[in-house]
Amino acid sequence: MNKKYFITTPIYYVNDVPHIGHTCTTIAADILARHHKLLGRDVFFLTGTDEHGAKVAEEAKKAGLTPQEFCDKVSKTFSDIWPKLNIQYDYFIRTTNPEHEKIVQELIQKIYDNGDIYKAEYEGLYCVGCEKFITEDELVQDKCPLHPNQEIEKQKEENYFFKLKKYAQILVNAIENENDKNHYQISPESKKQEVLSKLKAGVPDLSISRADVPWGIPIPWDKNQTIYVWVDALINYYSALIINKKADFWPANLHLLGKEILWFHAVIWEAMLISAGISVPKEVFAHSFYMIDGQKMSKSLGNVISPQELIEKFGVDGTRYLIASSFPRDNDSDVSLQKFTDKYNADLANGLGNLVARVAKLCEKSNFEPKNLNNIYYLSELEKLNNLRKVLDECRLNEALTLLWGKISQTDKFIASNQPWTLSGEKLTPVLEHLVSEVYRITLLIAPFMPETSEKILKQFSGPIIKAEAPLFPRL
Ligand code: MSP
Repeated sequence: MNKKYFITTPIYYVNDVPHIGHTCTTIAADILARHHKLLGRDVFFLTGTDEHGAKVAEEAKKAGLTPQEFCDKVSKTFSDIWPKLNIQYDYFIRTTNPEHEKIVQELIQKIYDNGDIYKAEYEGLYCVGCEKFITEDELVQDKCPLHPNQEIEKQKEENYFFKLKKYAQILVNAIENENDKNHYQISPESKKQEVLSKLKAGVPDLSISRADVPWGIPIPWDKNQTIYVWVDALINYYSALIINKKADFWPANLHLLGKEILWFHAVIWEAMLISAGISVPKEVFAHSFYMIDGQKMSKSLGNVISPQELIEKFGVDGTRYLIASSFPRDNDSDVSLQKFTDKYNADLANGLGNLVARVAKLCEKSNFEPKNLNNIYYLSELEKLNNLRKVLDECRLNEALTLLWGKISQTDKFIASNQPWTLSGEKLTPVLEHLVSEVYRITLLIAPFMPETSEKILKQFSGPIIKAEAPLFPRL
């Protein structure tokens, strides 16, 4: 097993404050990071904020602040909220960090020196919301489908272009052929197929500089232009390691992100890396969206649920559970506070919380002393439970929880059929031994999802005697 594991989330734009769309990617990454740590890997988990570009500059102006003041303020709302959800990132990168800026310039210079950048005139339609050029046929009623209440801008300027077209076939080979020296995986499979068919249909070169966006990193050989915000942003995954003197964590094991930015991560990023002579990430995983009443959740549509709201209502681990169990892996999923409340009551108050309370009460009543729990380990339990390990490796968080909750209902059934409250002495002991070890096993396995709860139950059940405690998840 490769000991090092480098996992990333997108770096979020500071034009928006954190909502549960951002939260679902970050919690998923934290769960996977914790899982790999429990497997004994040396993990580096990166998140951060994307701070340059026209969109951020516009928002700063609206707020009456300089772009830097504005970035400092909003970036903090991201770096502050994640620890409140017990998200343990190793580094929080900001693209206005001068060290990052320098690395971006060096990398672009390398691509330029390799002959993959040229200057040309470009005319096109630009969506500031997406920070990208879009084509006529992507428009829905003359608007970007992801930003239906923002105007599309017509732009004509001289820019530097990256020879993306040259890399199309190289990337197809790298994706399709496991033995290719640049091989990388795109997941889920349906997303990989989408990327492949787009690549095979033909790819235009990419404008990688802007002449009229001063809030950006200057092109090193032409200070009149700034580097396109997406190029600057993608490089964070690499620069963060250099800044932290952790270059040996490259290439990344997993870039986790939403489907709207898959093209940047699964095509543009790899082409840039290959051009610069740097190895490509091992896997790019694109999940779908949280929707509210059929629309993508976003600040510009004013339909967001904030992580703070969920923490106040469901607690930290309650929130982590609800986000993981509704993680939109393959399809968009409609979420609402009511759905979250129903799920909380069913799975946490009545499910896990109730089981732990019942077993603890039975143990307390008979002064039961647990034994041999120290022989139960994360890895061996993981491998015992159907294909839990595979499911986690494939980021099927909801399926992982379904497997674990299956174990909870099995244990509930065991209680119902053995009726321990009718037993005593020699008949009761093996029943309690079984119950306590089952609770212990479940608790070990939920640790990446609900670290605090897991720690609390493990402590409660480690003995020497087990006592009933206040409900873990009070019913709402
Ligand atoms: N700054 C770029 C990313 C650069 S990465 C080199 C960006 N930022 S963003 O703030 O718009 O964040 C996009 C990411 O937030 C998505 O890819 C996804 O991870 C998450 N989500 C934002 N809204 C979401 C939903 N409604 N549902 C699920 N996740 C979504 O794009």
